[in-house]
Amino acid sequence: MKSLLGRATDPKSAEKDLAGEVLAIRGGRPLTGRVEVKGAKNLVTKAMVAALLGETTSTLRDVPDISDVKVVRSLLEVHGVRVEDGDEEGTIHLDPSGAVTAHFEEIDAHAGASRIPILFCGPLLHLLGEALIPDLGGCRIGDRPINFHMDALRAFGAVVDKSYEGIRITAPNGLTGANIELPYPSVGATEQVLLTAVRAKGVTELRNAAIEPEIMDLIAVLQKMGAIISYEPNRVILIEGVDSLRGYDHRAIFDRNEAASWACAALATDGDIFVGGARQQEMLTFLNVFRKVGGWFDVREDGIQFRRGGALKPVTVETDVHPGFMTDWQQPLIVALTQAEGQSVVHETVYENRLGFTAALNQMGADIVVHPHGIDAPDRRVPRRALEQAAVINGPTPLHGADVVVPDLRGGYSYVIAALAAEGESVVRNIGIIRRGYEKFLTKLETLGADFDVVG
Ligand code: EPU
Repeated sequence: MKSLLGRATDPKSAEKDLAGEVLAIRGGRPLTGRVEVKGAKNLVTKAMVAALLGETTSTLRDVPDISDVKVVRSLLEVHGVRVEDGDEEGTIHLDPSGAVTAHFEEIDAHAGASRIPILFCGPLLHLLGEALIPDLGGCRIGDRPINFHMDALRAFGAVVDKSYEGIRITAPNGLTGANIELPYPSVGATEQVLLTAVRAKGVTELRNAAIEPEIMDLIAVLQKMGAIISYEPNRVILIEGVDSLRGYDHRAIFDRNEAASWACAALATDGDIFVGGARQQEMLTFLNVFRKVGGWFDVREDGIQFRRGGALKPVTVETDVHPGFMTDWQQPLIVALTQAEGQSVVHETVYENRLGFTAALNQMGADIVVHPHGIDAPDRRVPRRALEQAAVINGPTPLHGADVVVPDLRGGYSYVIAALAAEGESVVRNIGIIRRGYEKFLTKLETLGADFDVVG
């Protein structure tokens, strides 16, 4: 890797400067080699919050060096939790014994664009009787609603007050187990209920719960802490509240979103990538689609190898809650589908607006039409949701370089692999966002033989 100034840049030091945020990428080279994935962002950040519930220090292992983890770390520190790095790389110790209430401004200053303060509510209510969520309705929380969270907290007996600063939640009479049915199996709302119910008085029955592997891993964390949680068929989780919890020692489940991203990078660039730490069990649905698209994979003891098995074929895919095809997998898959021979359709059913990133792929030569209100297609597995979008991808289309701005984490990753698959040079701006969820991103690209410069 060279900087634009012509000096060789150490990818490790470039990692620190990633917020510098612009990459010039020369495409057309297959990505080949081995990358390692650590613990899942979507478990690690929640397990860190769970440490607040313990009476002793917790130890979390395989914590990735990503900015979302830094955000949660500083939010915990603002609340008086001592967070220290362990001797083993990726291990942190969290000591909640000095937990205190933080102010709106402090939480706001440390939360960035993160929604994680919402998940502090249950633990803080048990610990301190009060929780604050800044800036509700502002761009920080955006149009991703939190109504399921607030309704669940009210069901436990919490009182929710809105003010100009944000939301103040209190529990004047403590929290009591509740019967809750989620309108949709929301990941965050399920975690909210788990983190609140474990110390509430009595039994909580949660229906229509999310059952993602990261949620099962959070349940494992909570069980290590002393919680009593069981699950039944049909998305029902039962939590028997206990009087106290202790710290845990836990190795986080691997990041299947990162693993799927590198798998799609191998498809899109016609490369060959071994993803160390990836496991088959949590990726069954992804692997089926990967195979249908024409991908080849080999599951090994220590990871999974991914490459093309021949020409890429079109597919119809619907994103869904687990065990469906994750919404976080569609963005890199769509880049690969631009190289498939024929018409693919991707229905986004989890979020109402998560296909906007495809406009930049069109700028690079893709032929993708987004139908903002979805389309009917045969062979659907997921019932149509009211707020559905669909992308129709016509391939194969050669991709060429363009100047694009990263819009969000997964969309941003897909721009980088599109640029790597494209002929010519691309400029990808705002790369810092990718640090939210991809550890050592530049180092991994470098290891895989990507040709890029850090600009500025
Ligand atoms: N929803 C509501 N009301 C609520 C909560 C959710 O209407 O109170 C809706 C959302 O608007 C969305 C749907 O329910 O349409 C699902 O949202 P969910 O609550 O399941 O998502 P989340 O917990 O906010 C997590 C991950 C996302 C991932 C989704 C779906 C974390 C930090 N985030 O979000 O990950 O896409 O689950 O699996 O765990 C990412 O990693 O880039 C990312 C966005």
